[in-house]
Amino acid sequence: MSERIAICPGTFDPITNGHVDIIQRSLRIFDRVVVAVLVNPQKRPLFESQRRIELIRASLQGVERVEVESFQGLLVDYVKERGGSAIIRGLRAVSDFEYELQMALMNRRLSQEVETVFMMPSEEYSFLSSTMIKEIASFGGSVRGLVPEPVERALREVFHNV
Ligand code: PNS
Repeated sequence: MSERIAICPGTFDPITNGHVDIIQRSLRIFDRVVVAVLVNPQKRPLFESQRRIELIRASLQGVERVEVESFQGLLVDYVKERGGSAIIRGLRAVSDFEYELQMALMNRRLSQEVETVFMMPSEEYSFLSSTMIKEIASFGGSVRGLVPEPVERALREVFHNV
């Protein structure tokens, strides 16, 4: 039987424990998960794409059946190129739903073969976002327990105060 491959796409600026939780959950139902980091020249991320990839790899050290790559262009094209059958997205709250539904239906229109699978993170991470993490870190607040240790260290390097 062929391998079931899922693509877990995102900006990951930076990866949080909520993302890690979703990736680990998706490994329970897929044989292989490719974490795909969007390179978007229009956005000005805190961490460059290569650094975001390094941080994801460091955060997932020891986790098997996971690959981390960057992608550009349409997500559905990348999914097909990688031989994936599904897109994994985390749903934290009802507020995520509208944007996620829009994206899932648009991706379905672009490619009938690719399904979007939504997963709920552990409730302890249901309020977490990369944007919030960056804001807390920039003002010297503690993000311990909310992001993997390599990310905590990287934020400290950027803001010198976490
Ligand atoms: O972590 P994010 O920022 O919520 O992830 C958004 C992402 C990367 C999944 C989305 O912006 C995306 O898929 N971009 C690629 C371009 C694309 O395919 N757009 C059409 C989807 S509606």
